[in-house]
Amino acid sequence: MLILGIESSCDETAAAVVEDGRTLHSSAIATSVAEQALYGGVVPEIASRRHIESISPAVQKALADAGVSPAELDAIAVTFAPGLIGAVLVGVNFAKGLACATGKPLVPVHHLRGHIAALYLTHPELKPPFLCLVASGGHSHIVKVEEYTRFAVLGRTVDDAAGEAFDKVARTLGLPYPGGPSVSKAARQGNPHGYALPTPHAPGPYDVSFSGLKTAVLNAVNQARMRGEAVRVPDMAASFQEKIACILAQKLLAAARDTGAATLCLAGGVAANGRLRTLVNEGAQKAGLRLCLPEPALCGDNAAMIAAQGYYEYCAGHTASLNLNGYATLPIDYNPGEI
Ligand code: KG4
Ligand code: ZN
Repeated sequence: MLILGIESSCDETAAAVVEDGRTLHSSAIATSVAEQALYGGVVPEIASRRHIESISPAVQKALADAGVSPAELDAIAVTFAPGLIGAVLVGVNFAKGLACATGKPLVPVHHLRGHIAALYLTHPELKPPFLCLVASGGHSHIVKVEEYTRFAVLGRTVDDAAGEAFDKVARTLGLPYPGGPSVSKAARQGNPHGYALPTPHAPGPYDVSFSGLKTAVLNAVNQARMRGEAVRVPDMAASFQEKIACILAQKLLAAARDTGAATLCLAGGVAANGRLRTLVNEGAQKAGLRLCLPEPALCGDNAAMIAAQGYYEYCAGHTASLNLNGYATLPIDYNPGEI
């Protein structure tokens, strides 16, 4: 079954063709990240305007690279939530137009479910159940993937998402957007114990909180400035990365231990972080757990993951009419019957 995936929830305009949720035939991505970097973060209106310009070429490229005509597709899957609403609506409306013109089924896909499905493209043998840390610019969840379309959220951030914390700390340190890659790069030259940073308290056993950590970085930078000293950017980047990676890895491993999970996974943009991957890998090996990581190219936003999850949503009968709307927020365990 050939599914076209369409993704436009943030600053990537993407289209991809995937067969049976597992085999990638093509993946086209246009990004406005360089333009967004001029403003230090994503400006929603700029994102929407770039999606409008890029979506048709992205879909045409994905179809051409896969050697597939619209008539040969079995369904059209699109990110319909969560995300910047003006950005989401561009993809939803394009997918609706294509579904209307071709008569193909329209499959709404939750963006975070998509991030998890990126794992199916990297690990053809991976099947639920498994435990997954989904960490992106907007979300940090520890999710039990019970079935391909059934999820239970065990923990979440109570304030900033992990990626958001990287982005804000990068800004404080004068490093470019997006913060994850730039903090990581700076950290390579730094001492991870150069600055003592706090572990903020979070209410639930698998919840996380990063706001206090971000503020601690800001305070240290301001105090250094007041003393007329320069903050040691590589040391601060390394200390921050070490702390956030330790918190995320510990929470995931604790959830695995308590729930008796046999397989652990990472997903989302932050899953590209080398230190996080190393810490989770060490912990999984010690505990005798299997670890599946998405290939780095599939951690960030892409449409292959949307087409992959679209396959499982379609198989579960989760299609939508041409009245489909987009949503800025929606829990990962939403009821498809209510959409
Ligand atoms: O999943 P994603 O591409 O988009 C959202 O759904 O938000 O995640 C983007 C986030 C950004 O905050 C970015 O700074 C972060 O992922 N990120 C990283 C790394 N690469 C991207 N964070 C830590 N380390 C990285 N290597
Ligand atoms: Zn994402």
